[in-house]
Amino acid sequence: MSRRNQSDDPPAATGLKKGLTSYGDNGFSLFLRKAFIKGAGYSDSALTRPVIGIANTGSAYNPCHGNMPQLLEAVKRGIMLAGGLPVDFPTISIHESFSYPTSMYLRNLMSMDTEEMILAQPMDAVVLIGGCDKTVPAQLMGAASAGIPAIELVTGSMLTGSHRSERVGACTDCRRYWGKYRAQEIDDQEIADVNNQLVASVGTCSVMGTASTMACLSEALGISLPGGATPPAVTADRMRIAELTGAQAVQMAQERLTIDKILTPDAFENAMRVLLAIGGSTNGIVHLAAIAGRMGLDIDLQALDRMGRDTPVLLDLKPSGQHYMEDFHKAGGMATLLRQLKPLLKLDALTVTGRTLGEEIERAGPGFEQTVVKTATDPIYPQGAIAVLQGNLAPGGAIIKQSSANAALMEHEGRAVVFEDAADLALRIDSDELDVTAEDILVLKNIGPKGAPGMPEAGYIPIPRKLAVQGVKDIVRISDGRMSGTAFGTIVLHVTPESAIGGPLAYVENGDRIRLSVSRRDLSLLVSEQELALRRQRTPVVVPTAERGYKKLFLDTVTQADKGVDFDFLRPAQNKGTVPR
Ligand code: FES
Repeated sequence: MSRRNQSDDPPAATGLKKGLTSYGDNGFSLFLRKAFIKGAGYSDSALTRPVIGIANTGSAYNPCHGNMPQLLEAVKRGIMLAGGLPVDFPTISIHESFSYPTSMYLRNLMSMDTEEMILAQPMDAVVLIGGCDKTVPAQLMGAASAGIPAIELVTGSMLTGSHRSERVGACTDCRRYWGKYRAQEIDDQEIADVNNQLVASVGTCSVMGTASTMACLSEALGISLPGGATPPAVTADRMRIAELTGAQAVQMAQERLTIDKILTPDAFENAMRVLLAIGGSTNGIVHLAAIAGRMGLDIDLQALDRMGRDTPVLLDLKPSGQHYMEDFHKAGGMATLLRQLKPLLKLDALTVTGRTLGEEIERAGPGFEQTVVKTATDPIYPQGAIAVLQGNLAPGGAIIKQSSANAALMEHEGRAVVFEDAADLALRIDSDELDVTAEDILVLKNIGPKGAPGMPEAGYIPIPRKLAVQGVKDIVRISDGRMSGTAFGTIVLHVTPESAIGGPLAYVENGDRIRLSVSRRDLSLLVSEQELALRRQRTPVVVPTAERGYKKLFLDTVTQADKGVDFDFLRPAQNKGTVPR
């Protein structure tokens, strides 16, 4: 039952009778509502069915959702075959490359839109259709707060393309080719040619970026159908999943399978396991923390690190491995992975089918021979993809995606080369005057939740051009920002607290020594506490503010990375504990 219904509506209100508009006369409110919807040609018989809302995030600005018309048709077919009435409604849609200043800045706005539209409009269950990086987290955050039965349907991955006989896909290869171009290894013609091939169809990025990560985590959470994570966007399998999702939503409405029964601590623990085992995007941690936060739960980052030590990376997908999402689908998708991970999973966690995750793994059968999902005895990487660091530079933690980092740099001490913000970086990173060597550590400040604002994916600091042309492919980089899940390198992210609110990162100066030890999970600034106190006194940090509008709301209420970069007032008042329990 929805949060708002618990206080406002009679408990039995369903279908069109839910959430009646306040005219002071409920009979009149229903009469008027039916009169208007009949204006669209509906019969009384149709209006007595369970109403299934469908969050439609189609947008010409969002090619990752370019199959939305076909998905909507298939979901509606599934709903009607199961006896429900489908009603789609628009919400905000966010695409990574069409969102200024950054998509993360808008994720919470989309979550609020999703929550409020679910609650404002009568529906007994909702199908959430999302895909591009921030859309699925936003929808799950909103639906978690709304509280009604909800099921996620991802749009599916794009197909891979081919450039001069080499298979390519967004966006690991986008970064790889751009790196080659910066290093003057390829010319203007070739970079223009590959630009035509990197995104070969509509759908989400074809590697284990944030969209693929959230698709896999949705299935691990039990909030999307088994088999729902991997079918590419333009395939018949994707449309079949869409039809089945619609039908399942009707069953969930009839059984009142509300989201709180699905998004439990065990479900989040399963998602954390899967995140580690798939070499998932570091953004997945932030989003999981935000979704869990809406259920009153905190993600224990230290526990995530401990889980990582006994969770191998099994999925051979870029950027940690070689393959693409369509290969994962052909290898059996999430069922193949979950079968391998079974001893580490909470098998009693309930899914949207009404069956447990363990039951769904059994139903998927014994599997078949394939090369994309490895076994625990022959993993891609022996430990979990993500390590959690701590030290005086990051008292609240920082993370590194060790599975796509350079082993030779993971134990490293170097001299800090500091950029004050993204504008400073853009101004100087390619300057011949930049005093930098491959042994140095690049430090970028003020790209955290409040700093940029919106914690942009600027943590993937480019290799300075003077080093790139010498053939340097990696260098230790540290920031309070995020990076795309499709990126790779020895990159420390999410330094907490961020520099914009006076975290220690704010006081790093050029020439300071920094020590990174991934084996000891240590990130230390080798500067005395006394010297740091002097620096704090000399140049106190002024926390960013805004006068009005969404930016003011954002800057006044956004939380740090460990709390999911959500707005503080969107979490429930009551804390229900930590994950894992
Ligand atoms: Fe949409 Fe990558 S840009 S998923």
